[in-house]
Amino acid sequence: MQPTSPLGAPERRRYIRGMTRTLTILGIETSCDETAAAVIRRAADGAVEILSEKVHTQLEEHAPYLGVVPEIAARAHAELADATVRAAMVESGVAYSDLDAVAATSGPGLIGGVLVGMMTGKAVAQAAGKPFLAVNHLEGHALSPRLTQDCAFPYLLLLVSGGHCQFLEVGGLGAYRRLGSTIDDAAGEAFDKTAKLLGLGFPGGPAVERIAADGNPKAIDFPRPLLNRPGLDMSFAGLKTAVARAAEAGPLSEGRMADICASFQAAIVDVLAEKSRRALEAFEPGDGQPKRFVVAGGVAANRAIRSALESVAETTGARLLAPPMRHCTDNAAMIALAGAERLASGRLGEAGDLGAGARPRWPLDEAAAKLDPAYATGRRGAKA
Ligand code: KG4
Ligand code: ZN
Repeated sequence: MQPTSPLGAPERRRYIRGMTRTLTILGIETSCDETAAAVIRRAADGAVEILSEKVHTQLEEHAPYLGVVPEIAARAHAELADATVRAAMVESGVAYSDLDAVAATSGPGLIGGVLVGMMTGKAVAQAAGKPFLAVNHLEGHALSPRLTQDCAFPYLLLLVSGGHCQFLEVGGLGAYRRLGSTIDDAAGEAFDKTAKLLGLGFPGGPAVERIAADGNPKAIDFPRPLLNRPGLDMSFAGLKTAVARAAEAGPLSEGRMADICASFQAAIVDVLAEKSRRALEAFEPGDGQPKRFVVAGGVAANRAIRSALESVAETTGARLLAPPMRHCTDNAAMIALAGAERLASGRLGEAGDLGAGARPRWPLDEAAAKLDPAYATGRRGAKA
């Protein structure tokens, strides 16, 4: 049964046409292991004010298992979601009645957590008589630099996190062209698996980076999968086997461990840098626009990767824009922004998305995904 709209007829007409005034949006993010809520205000000219941001990262909950356990994540989201939303609303000083809409991640991601976030968002929206907006998590990442910087369309985006690794041309809101993607594991997943193999704990990226600082990046010649193939697809699954072999090859002294981490990181850096160089050379923003290159996602925290991407941007005449760390990793401000931009553009049904269901797989470039449905679908969901 289709839910009825909580809005009156005149309100409904305004929402459908698009909103040109300042919008105040509550965003909710629960697709992986961060329970997050944020309130933002977006002016008609696109300027954003973040009124509050609350994030609980479920580190302690998952640490004993050396990875995110979906059932534990879902339960933790269910316990934390209400309080996180309340805390974000209180800190923002905004009354529920003054919100313009409630946005929640509706996919892709771990289905249990996504459902918790959507139910929370729909309940708040219904109770406050506001539209609910079902947001694509990847659209949130794609728009995240626009939270704090002047980052006009179009731009080239490298999204590198624990669940995703892809190049996208972002032409505008809803205009995403996938240029390449991992065909198996995401780069962050490779960091996490390497850390697990070496007994370094979870999440693996920061631990591997720390230990790599004392190692020799040339000590072991790890494979650079797909590096010499044309195109922008990547593959990181094979690296795990290579790391396992290197770890078994001899005693795992501190020095050897540092060499493995440094050499592994160097392989990832080489692949991301070379593929970024190719993507930037081919990227034509048109109309005399500057080449903007955005890197987002948790792996963008890695200093070796960031500095390699800086040099690539420099040599290709591009400008690297990286959101601050708290907006690289999963957060609710980017979900609120994606909702605000959707609302402002008027691309909504009359009840908002109150009838929307969760979508564990939800590629940004749906046309490309339809043409080749088997492309880049990994164990943990669509990496596209
Ligand atoms: O964006 P994010 O918080 O969540 C996902 O949507 O996946 O990214 C988390 C991923 C993890 O795989 C983590 O190991 C990786 O980002 N990561 C790093 C670093 N910090 C986080 N990888 C490499 N170096 C880092 N410093
Ligand atoms: Zn994410």
